[in-house]
Amino acid sequence: MSNPVISVLFVCLGNICRSPTAHAVFRSKVMEAGLQDQIIVDSAGTGDWHIGDPPDARSVEVAEGKGYDMSKIFARQICTEDFDKFDYILAMDEENYNNIQKVKLDIKSNLLHLFLSFNKAAGRLDVPDPYYGAGGGFDHVLELIEGASDGLLNHIRQRLNGVPCR
Ligand code: 4NP
Repeated sequence: MSNPVISVLFVCLGNICRSPTAHAVFRSKVMEAGLQDQIIVDSAGTGDWHIGDPPDARSVEVAEGKGYDMSKIFARQICTEDFDKFDYILAMDEENYNNIQKVKLDIKSNLLHLFLSFNKAAGRLDVPDPYYGAGGGFDHVLELIEGASDGLLNHIRQRLNGVPCR
């Protein structure tokens, strides 16, 4: 039997700050774990203002400062097909979560999650929107995303490994 493949879509508002950061961080952790053939990673925004744009320079500076490659990520808008293509759709905050629910009726159960539900230590469920905020916001966003990426990877690993038949 071929190896199962799990696909993950990170979603924020503009797809230029939080979700491309999550895309780059999680992809890097997937590669570090040698699971790049089993886990597909992508990101999108609920809005259409930044379609085709590279990530915000402030996100790039903070992420690349810690070795995450943001160079080939360009913004796109979430679309109806994504709800069939992906196994996990991960919203950065509650507003994104609510906006994602407006794109499709009858979303499959266990498809849509708040990303920070995979980072219990964060003590919060929203990755704050850093776009209009002070510079420190981008470091905090990265920290929250790194923690949730570890939690999500552990969760998916358990699913990929399953329980052997005895
Ligand atoms: P993001 O941040 O959702 O983390 O990409 C934002 C980017 C752009 C805007 C808002 C939030 N905007 O209003 O253009």
